[in-house]
Amino acid sequence: MKPDVEVLDDAVSLAHTAAQLIVDRAKASGERFTLVLSGGSTPKAIYRLLAQLPLRDEIPWAAVQLFWGDERSVPPDHADSNFRTAREELIDHVPIPAANIHRIHAELPAPEAAAAYEADLRHSFGSVALPRFDLVLLGMGDEGHTASLFPDTTALDETQRWVVANYVPKLHTDRITLSFPVINNAQEIVFLVAGAAKQEALGHVLYGQHDELPLPAARIAPTNGRLLWLLDRSAMPLTNH
Ligand code: 6PG
Repeated sequence: MKPDVEVLDDAVSLAHTAAQLIVDRAKASGERFTLVLSGGSTPKAIYRLLAQLPLRDEIPWAAVQLFWGDERSVPPDHADSNFRTAREELIDHVPIPAANIHRIHAELPAPEAAAAYEADLRHSFGSVALPRFDLVLLGMGDEGHTASLFPDTTALDETQRWVVANYVPKLHTDRITLSFPVINNAQEIVFLVAGAAKQEALGHVLYGQHDELPLPAARIAPTNGRLLWLLDRSAMPLTNH
């Protein structure tokens, strides 16, 4: 299924569009809204918008169950922690119950952190073949990774586990990440991509149909859900401006 692509003028309008989408989905969700946050820097502006009026008071925070798509193998107060970013820009400013926050305990050795997070997911979603998140936010790296599914890493081949530890040689570090089957089982997946550094990878992912080995971001394809790319104009491949 061809993904929906919406091109916004700049990163600010991308953030506003994404924040409004999240609010709309949360309001429409009823008593439980399972939201997966992405890491990196792009989502920061979105989290800030959700943490302030008017949007903050439009979200039924008691219904929001907050998860992460991936985490760096660092403690939650580390500068690289995706949890820390979300806590500083969002969680500390909104009335979300602590029990609704499903942090990846990345202070543990990565395999233990992955196992603990999967146990939390299984507790939260019950005895299902795969969890079905209402909304998964994803970013994309300059080389086409998404979540912590990096090119040429073992996590790309995971078909059974929901969460895996993934050693990333180019970063000389472990990551913890949702696997493709879990992400692709979501109701809705929204990529948030901004900046000229993404042009080349985006050209392959969105328009490189015949790539020998598709980039990880190109392997995001919901089995029964919606895929939306929110891009800012500077990220668009030059041939498609
Ligand atoms: C991470 C992310 C990763 C991120 C992309 C884009 O932990 O780094 O989950 O997949 O979304 O690298 O990052 P930027 O938004 O900083 O470009």
